[in-house]
Amino acid sequence: MMNALFFSLAILFFSPAQGLLQSPSCDVTDHGSNLQVLHVNSPCSPFKTAAAAAALSWEDSVLQMQSNDKSRLQYLSSLVAGRSVVPIASGRAVTQNPTYVVRAKIGTPAQTLFVAVDTSNDAAWIPCSGCVGCSSATFNYAKSSSFKPLPCGAPQCNQVPNPSCGGAACGFNVTYGSSAISATLAQDNITLAADSVHGYTFGCVRTTTGSSFPAQGLLGLGRGPLSLLSQSVSLYQSTFSYCLPSYKSVNFTGNLRLGPHSQPIRIKTTPLLRNPRRSSLYYVNLVAIRVGRRVVAIPPSAFAYDPVSGAGTVFDSGTVFTSLVRPAYVAVRDEVRRRMGNATVSSLGGFDTCYAGAPISVPTVTFMFAGMNVTLPQDNFVIRSSAGTTSCLAMAAAPDGNVNSVLNVIASFQQQNHRILIDVPNSRLGVAREACS
Ligand SMILES: *[C@@H]1O[C@H](CO)[C@@H](O)[C@H](O)[C@H]1NC(C)=O
Ligand SMILES: *[C@@H]1O[C@H](CO)[C@@H](O)[C@H](O)[C@H]1NC(C)=O
Ligand SMILES: *[C@@H]1O[C@H](CO)[C@@H](O)[C@H](O)[C@H]1NC(C)=O
Ligand SMILES: *[C@@H]1O[C@H](CO)[C@@H](O)[C@H](O)[C@H]1NC(C)=O
Ligand SMILES: *[C@@H]1O[C@H](CO)[C@@H](O)[C@H](O)[C@H]1NC(C)=O
Repeated sequence: MMNALFFSLAILFFSPAQGLLQSPSCDVTDHGSNLQVLHVNSPCSPFKTAAAAAALSWEDSVLQMQSNDKSRLQYLSSLVAGRSVVPIASGRAVTQNPTYVVRAKIGTPAQTLFVAVDTSNDAAWIPCSGCVGCSSATFNYAKSSSFKPLPCGAPQCNQVPNPSCGGAACGFNVTYGSSAISATLAQDNITLAADSVHGYTFGCVRTTTGSSFPAQGLLGLGRGPLSLLSQSVSLYQSTFSYCLPSYKSVNFTGNLRLGPHSQPIRIKTTPLLRNPRRSSLYYVNLVAIRVGRRVVAIPPSAFAYDPVSGAGTVFDSGTVFTSLVRPAYVAVRDEVRRRMGNATVSSLGGFDTCYAGAPISVPTVTFMFAGMNVTLPQDNFVIRSSAGTTSCLAMAAAPDGNVNSVLNVIASFQQQNHRILIDVPNSRLGVAREACS
């Protein structure tokens, strides 16, 4: 069995620049160890929304991405605040919009379902047949010979919130926002391309009310105790890497590799920090930021890693635009504005450093991590309108008045066309430029 999975990513941001998209083929069968990953709103995703399908103006598409980021940052803040201590079934974990979906096969014989993958999430959720309120395809557990509800006495039952033992099975209810879900803890085999995880533990969702329950299940790639990675340590050894294609890419292809094989050997790395209280998140030490050649003045406290408060810096694939604590963001922004001289600055939604007409004259921004400098070209920190007439610095300050204001999030716009390696056994996170678009 191959331990590495090659996912090809299909990503779609809603830019009218793409006009009529070259639709990727939707009836892909995953072969060998290759899995296709779709953006949740891509043409082939069963979860695409009508709004996403409609052509949005550039401004509207940016605003939509930012508004999705807001709920994402709230989710991350709930992790940082430690309110989301239950890895397998955190209600808050699903209030954000998942970004990527993969095909997974569950049960015996296998049933194919799309599930969301998320690097900052440990949740394992599958909408099960008979689910009241689930909006999409469900897993028909009655047809699976390997399906097994977990009894109340199972150790995993201690890891779910409000466990209840109506029958012999371990059940739990979670509320979030205006929604509530009810699920049974269960096990079945899950197969990703050719790789099977036997006895995968997940919440088999039976009832949902309200509108915030996501249509798809969740396959967490976080590092918490019950995430997919933690349940498949012998197979994937808590190692994976991904390359997100440019949001401007016509073909939206990239890939995600699970397992230690076929990972880059020569790659710059920085130590991965383990925060037992925020077990899902991949923390690193950001120490400084360079705008062009100038290291901007940022108080060290803006970057300080504190496992107790949750402060520090994480890599996340589910947030689109990098969010920096205010003093760090302001220092970066002010240097960009200084370099732009007297050009008139404007704002667009959460972006406060936009220019109409004048291109942004900063060639690079460098994130300086412990032992690793990552120098980003403009495509990773400037977002331009399709006509090229407006450009914005594509980062923002962490929302104020919110615990998340202590967290720096290195997000997907800044990661595109880079390979990000997560290597838990060696406690390192690697970054390398890679043209995967
Ligand atoms: C959980 O939710 C179900 C369905 O909404 C309900 O019947 C049950 O009483 C709830 N259980 C607990 C322990 O709240
Ligand atoms: C499912 O997992 C069990 C072990 O829990 C294993 O014996 C069985 O062969 C698996 N079935 C398939 C189809 O992989
Ligand atoms: C998109 O894919 C097609 C077919 O694989 C290829 O011919 C074309 O060059 C690709 N376009 C880009 C911009 O990569
Ligand atoms: C900004 O404008 C002032 C007054 O018009 C001018 O003296 C100065 O040189 C300009 N600075 C830059 C960097 O263009
Ligand atoms: C990062 O760049 C700075 C210069 O800005 C340099 O002093 C430092 O050694 C570099 N760090 C690494 C790990 O290359």
